[in-house]
Amino acid sequence: MKVVVLRSLAGPAVAELATECDVVQFGDGFASPGFDAVASETVAILATGSDRIDGRALDRMPRLRLVANVAVGTDNVDTAACAARGVVVTNTPDVLTDATANLAFGLLLAAARRIVEGDRYVRAGNFRGFDANLLVGTPIHGRTLGIVGMGRIGRAMARRGRGFGMRIVYAQRNRLDPAIEEDLDASFLDVDTLFRESDFVSLHCPKTPDTVGLASEARLRSMKPGSIFVNTSRGACVDEPALIRVLHEGPLRAAGLDVFADEPNVPEELFAMDNVVLLPHVGSAETHTRAAMSALAVANVRAVLAGRTPLTPVTAGG
Ligand code: GLV
Repeated sequence: MKVVVLRSLAGPAVAELATECDVVQFGDGFASPGFDAVASETVAILATGSDRIDGRALDRMPRLRLVANVAVGTDNVDTAACAARGVVVTNTPDVLTDATANLAFGLLLAAARRIVEGDRYVRAGNFRGFDANLLVGTPIHGRTLGIVGMGRIGRAMARRGRGFGMRIVYAQRNRLDPAIEEDLDASFLDVDTLFRESDFVSLHCPKTPDTVGLASEARLRSMKPGSIFVNTSRGACVDEPALIRVLHEGPLRAAGLDVFADEPNVPEELFAMDNVVLLPHVGSAETHTRAAMSALAVANVRAVLAGRTPLTPVTAGG
C-alpha cells in the first residue's frame, strides 16, 4: 500500500506522512523512473496541475482510492473517470486564495504601471534621470475592474481593487447573494457587458467546457482603448492567438499572464512584446501558502486512508 507523491512539494507535511505510511517520492510525475514498479500498489497520489490524471493513468493504478491534487483547480484530473472507478478527488481551496489574488493584483499593477519594462530599462543602463514622459502608465484609481468568476479568489481580488479605489463589476453563471454584493461593493454584469465596460479584466474562473475560450476575440476587441487584461486562472480560458492580435492592434494596451493554454509552452510572439508581463504559473507561490497546500493534501490522504470523509472533496468516489 503506497502513497505516491508525483512531484517535490513544499513544507514538512510529506516527510511527516512518511513516518506514518509507505510514501514514495518522485520528481517528474508519471514519467519518473520507478513509477511503474509501484503503480499497482498505489492507493493514493499527490498530484499537481502538471500531472494529467486520465483513464489511462488510472488504469495503471487499480488500487487507487484518492487523487489529492495540490491545487485548487482540478482540470488536470478526469473527475468523471475517477468517480466511475470509485476514486476520490480532493483539491486545496481557501489556503491559496490570498496568495493568488496578491499575484493577480501584482500583475494588474505591473502591467498598468509598466514595472517590468522599467526594470529592464534600468538594467540596460538607460536611466538618465527623471523624465516626465518616461514609462507613463495607466491609471488605476477610479477605474473599473471586471472580475470574471467571483469565487473565493475573485472576491479577494475585488477587495484588493476596492482598496485601490476601483469600481468593481463581476460576471459569473450565478449572481451572488445581494448581501455579498453589497459587502464587496460589486455590481453584476453579463460577460459581454463586463468586457465592454471594464478598464481592467481579470479572470478567476475555473477551466470548464463553459469557460474555455471565454476571453474570445470578439470580447477582447470590444474592450475600451487602453485597457488591460490579467489572467491567473487557466490559459485555455483565453483565445491566445486573438489576445496577441488584440495586444498588437488594440484596444488592449497591456496584459499580465501567469497561465498559458499549453504549459509549459508560451506563445513565442509574447516574448517580443514589452506590454506583456509573463509569469511561470506561480499564483499560489508564497512560502506559507505552498506549505499549507501540501498540508491540506496530506490531511486528505490521512482522512481517506482512515476511511473518513476528506476535508476538501471535489468528487466523492464510490
Ligand atoms: C493553481 O493553478 C491551482 O489551481 O491551484
